[in-house]
Amino acid sequence: MQKTTLITGGAGYIGSHTALALIDAGQQVLVLDNLCNSCRESLKRLEFLTRIRVDFIEGDIRDTKLLDDIFSRYDIDAVMHFAGLKSVEESVRQPLEYYANNVVGTLNLCHAMARSEVFKLVFSSSATVYGAPRKIPIIEDLGTGKPVNPYGRTKLMIEELLTDLCLSDPRWSIAVLRYFNPIGAHESGLIGENPNGRPNNLLPCLTQVAIGRAPELTVFGGDYPTVDGTCVRDYVHVVDLADGHLKALQALQRRNGIHVWNLGTGIGYSVLQIIRSFEDITGVTIPFRFAPRRAGDIAQCWADPSKAWRELGWHAQRDLMQMIIDTWRWQLCNPQGYRSQPELLASIALKQWV
Ligand code: NAD
Ligand code: UD1
Repeated sequence: MQKTTLITGGAGYIGSHTALALIDAGQQVLVLDNLCNSCRESLKRLEFLTRIRVDFIEGDIRDTKLLDDIFSRYDIDAVMHFAGLKSVEESVRQPLEYYANNVVGTLNLCHAMARSEVFKLVFSSSATVYGAPRKIPIIEDLGTGKPVNPYGRTKLMIEELLTDLCLSDPRWSIAVLRYFNPIGAHESGLIGENPNGRPNNLLPCLTQVAIGRAPELTVFGGDYPTVDGTCVRDYVHVVDLADGHLKALQALQRRNGIHVWNLGTGIGYSVLQIIRSFEDITGVTIPFRFAPRRAGDIAQCWADPSKAWRELGWHAQRDLMQMIIDTWRWQLCNPQGYRSQPELLASIALKQWV
C-alpha cells in the first residue's frame, strides 16, 4: 500500500500549494488543520485542480490523542509541518498563544511521531531566525542570530528542539526549510494567500490598494542604507517553495540527521522596486506614502540558495514578473479570498486583464 505524507497546516497558503505539488507527483497526502487561519474551500479547490479527493482531518496539532489516532489509522511515513501561527505583530500581543501553538504543538507532534516510529519531518522555518544578518547573502552555516519578536523566537526554539532530537536518536531525518519572503499563487488563480483580517505583509497590502480596498500603501522607512532607502527582501514564488518541499522530502529518503536549507531566489528587491514592477506589469497605479520605520525590520536580506541547489537540485525558477502576475491573477479572481466564486470571476477578470 502507498505510504501517506501527513501535512499539518495543509489548508493554509504554503501547505495547500505543497499538497498540490505532492499530489501532482503521485503521492498520497493527509491534511490536518484546525482551520484557525484557513478554510475548507482551499481543499475543495485542490480537489478541483487534481481531480482527487483530499483526505482531511479538522483538528489541532496540540491534541495528543488525535495525533496518536491519526498515526495508528494511516500508514504515514513522513510529516510536512506547516501548522503554526505566523503574524509577527500578533505574536507580540499574544506570546503565550504563539509558544503554545508553535512550540508546544511541534513538541506534541514529534512525541506522537516517535511513538509511532515515523521519523521523517520537513519543518517550515523562516529567515527570521537569522535576525539582523552579519553577512549578505545569507548562508546557512553562518549560524542563526537573535530574532526580535516572539514569532521568530518560536521558530528558533523549534529548530533547536529538532536539533536535539536528531542528536538523541539517529533514526530521525529532518529538513529545516528557511523561507525568505513567499509570495505569488498557483497559476490557475484558484489557490493563493488568504490572510484573515488585516494583512501585514507587503504583497497582500499592495494588492489591497490595487483593488481599491485601501486608499494607499504605507512604505515603512525611506532612510535605510539600501539602493533607494527602502528595505530589500528576497521574494520567492510559493510554487517554487512547494517544489523545494518535494525535493527536501526526497532528500530525506537518502540521509538522516538534521539538514537546513535556505529557500530563496538569491535576489533582493526594495519596496519601491516592488511597487514600480507591480505598476509596470499590471498597469495599476499604487498611491503610497512614507511612514517611519516599522519596529523589528532589518534593512536588507537575501539568501544564498546554493546549498539547496547543490544538495537538493532545487532553485527558484519563477522571476519577479511571474510572482506579480500570479499574485494579481489570484487577487482578481478572488477579491473576497476563498469566499469568491472563482470560475465566474476568473472569466470576467481574465478578460479584462491577462
Ligand atoms: P497559513 O496561516 O496560511 O497556514 C498555516 C496553517 O496552519 C493554517 O491553515 C492554520 O489554520 C493551521 N494551523 C495553525 N495552528 C494550528 C494548530 N495548532 N493545529 C492545526 N492547524 C493549525 O500560513 P503559511 O503562510 O502557509 O505558513 C505556513 C508555515 O510557514 C507557518 O509555520 C509559517 O510560520 C511558516 N512561514 C511562513 C512564511 C510566510 O511568509 N508565509 C514565511 C516563513 C515561514
Ligand atoms: C515578515 C516578518 C517575518 C516573517 C515574514 C513572513 C517582520 C519584522 N518580519 O517579514 O518574521 O517570517 O513576514 O510572514 O514582521 N512593508 C511596507 N509596507 C507594508 C508592508 C510591508 O513598506 O504595508 C515593507 C516592510 O517594512 C519590509 C518589506 O515591506 O521592509 C517586507 O515586509 P513583509 O512582507 O512584512 O516581510 P518581512 O518583514 O520581510
